[in-house]
Amino acid sequence: MSANEVGSPEPRLFHETERGRIYLADALDVLRVTAADSIDLIVTSPPFGLVRKKEYGNVEADQYLHWFKPFAASFHRVLKESGSLVIDIGGAWNPGLPTRSLYHFKLLIMLCEEFGFHLAQDFYWWNPSRLPTPAEWVTVRRIRVKDAINTVWWLSKTPWPKASNRRVLQPYSPSMKELLNKGYKAKKRPSGHDISDKFAIDNGAAIPPNLIAIPNTESNSAYLRYCQENGIKPHPARYPAALPEYFIRMLTDENDLVFDPFGGSCVTGEVAERLRRTWICCEMNEEYLRGALGRFGGTSSAAPDSRRADDETNYYKMPHPGILWNGSVTRALPPDGGRQRIVSMPADGASPAAGQADKPAELAAMKADSPQLKLLDSSKTYDADPD
Ligand SMILES: C[S@@+](CC[C@H](N)C(=O)[O-])C[C@H]1O[C@@H](n2cnc3c(N)ncnc32)[C@H](O)[C@@H]1O
Repeated sequence: MSANEVGSPEPRLFHETERGRIYLADALDVLRVTAADSIDLIVTSPPFGLVRKKEYGNVEADQYLHWFKPFAASFHRVLKESGSLVIDIGGAWNPGLPTRSLYHFKLLIMLCEEFGFHLAQDFYWWNPSRLPTPAEWVTVRRIRVKDAINTVWWLSKTPWPKASNRRVLQPYSPSMKELLNKGYKAKKRPSGHDISDKFAIDNGAAIPPNLIAIPNTESNSAYLRYCQENGIKPHPARYPAALPEYFIRMLTDENDLVFDPFGGSCVTGEVAERLRRTWICCEMNEEYLRGALGRFGGTSSAAPDSRRADDETNYYKMPHPGILWNGSVTRALPPDGGRQRIVSMPADGASPAAGQADKPAELAAMKADSPQLKLLDSSKTYDADPD
């Protein structure tokens, strides 16, 4: 029986820090006893497992929306008028198909159209260390590219949540530095934008775009060491501390109240504590919270950032997509959209590797040549989920 079915049990306080409280509870029970208009920021990464268990189409997306509705209503009730709701939500592949679920877009539309939230801004968290998955579509059939971003919906109760981009500035790019050094001639751009000489003022740092690059590669943190020492399985879907930190900095002041309903290993709580915000985390799984205690025992995994602006390893470069376009041999596209999976057994060294034979003529020749070349039917369901 769930907590909801037995009425409204008092949420169990699992741990308390100087500024925060962790509840081992269904977030709905904590929300129920939370005062209206009391929270400055809800920043969270909700579970999105529901999407993966289902078979085809949009049914699973609709079930996700149904599951989310009571949270949406409660979030709206407990947020202050000046407050923000930030939801980190990864996309998902439809099982067995090289197509994407629409559930995270539907969630956004539902939150705005049914629950009255405003989309303050859409952000995209790029994880440069993401593996090229799902392998079937990306590395075997080569019909999709690597999925390396999560959407982060920044929603608000009014169009005017408190916020300042001055809190999340980043270093100027080399070209901007050059422009500042050489000076800038004010003129109208072909786009019609009037670039005044104000653009040449050195403000010390640049306003960031809504693309945030953070690799999710924590491997030697105090949290992980604590889990290992205590035989606790680390939370399998943690977000990097820099992600909630970005929004806590931009959207709250010291002593404001930050809430993470789907707390997991309490990354949000750890960051909020360090940034001197008050905070509440909820999590239903006790083992995750036993691991989270490792974040509050004195040694912090999300210690203040010691990264330096002049260290090249703190920058993630993206090549212009055209760099390899000139002179490269272009194969014909698979006319069936990759429906047929080509698999080679490279025993004789002569067979093509999977995905190489994508021109019909080449393919026919290879089939004649190589008894080892097999065509597999794509009606088979492959495990295409990235993580
Ligand atoms: C994606 S994880 C969050 C991970 C977290 N951001 C971190 O970095 O450790 C989502 C979490 O929500 C928890 N959860 C799911 N439903 C919940 C509910 N109704 N109340 C509280 N926690 C819930 C799951 O157990 C899971 O740990």
